[in-house]
Amino acid sequence: MSDIETFEQLFQNGLEHIYDAEKQLTKALPKMAEASSSPQLRQAFDEHQRQTEEHVRRIERIFSMLETSSSSRSNKVVEEMTDEAQKMIKHTDPSALRDAALIVAGNQVEHFEVACYGSLRNFAELLGRNDIVEILQQTLNEEKQADELLTRIGEQDVNRKAAQMRGEMARR
Ligand SMILES: [Fe+2]
Ligand SMILES: [Fe+2]
Repeated sequence: MSDIETFEQLFQNGLEHIYDAEKQLTKALPKMAEASSSPQLRQAFDEHQRQTEEHVRRIERIFSMLETSSSSRSNKVVEEMTDEAQKMIKHTDPSALRDAALIVAGNQVEHFEVACYGSLRNFAELLGRNDIVEILQQTLNEEKQADELLTRIGEQDVNRKAAQMRGEMARR
C-alpha cells in the first residue's frame, strides 16, 4: 500500500531524506577536512561542516513549524557518496591527487543537496509556506556557495598540482 498520497507527504518525505543526509554529512565532512593536504581545502570542508550542523538544526526547525516529529529516512544516496569518499582517502596518499578526489566527492554531494533543496523550496512555495521557503533558500544558497568554492579551489590550485602527478598513461 502506498504511504505517500499527498503533496504534503511528498514534501515531508523529502525533508526526512535530506535530514538524514545532513546528519551523515556532519560526520563525513570532518574526515574529509582531516584528509586534505591543501590548507584552503581543509578550511572549506571545516567551514562547511559548521554550516551543515546548522542545516540539521534548520530542518529540525522546519519539522517543528510543520508540527511533525524530526524523523529521518535513511538516505542511501549520500551514504554511497560518503563511502566512496572514504574509499578514495584509503586508496590515495595525502597529496594533491587525494585533494582532487576529495573535491570531486564534495562537488557531488553539494550538487545532490542543491537538487534536493531546490525542489523542497519550490514545494514549500506551492504549499504557501513562505516562512519555510526562507529557511530552505538560506541553506540552498550555502550549498551553492560551498560547491562553487570547491570548484574554485580545484580549478585554481589543486587540480593543476594533481595533474603533475602523472604515471604511465601520460608517457604513452
Ligand atoms: Fe547541507
Ligand atoms: Fe552541503
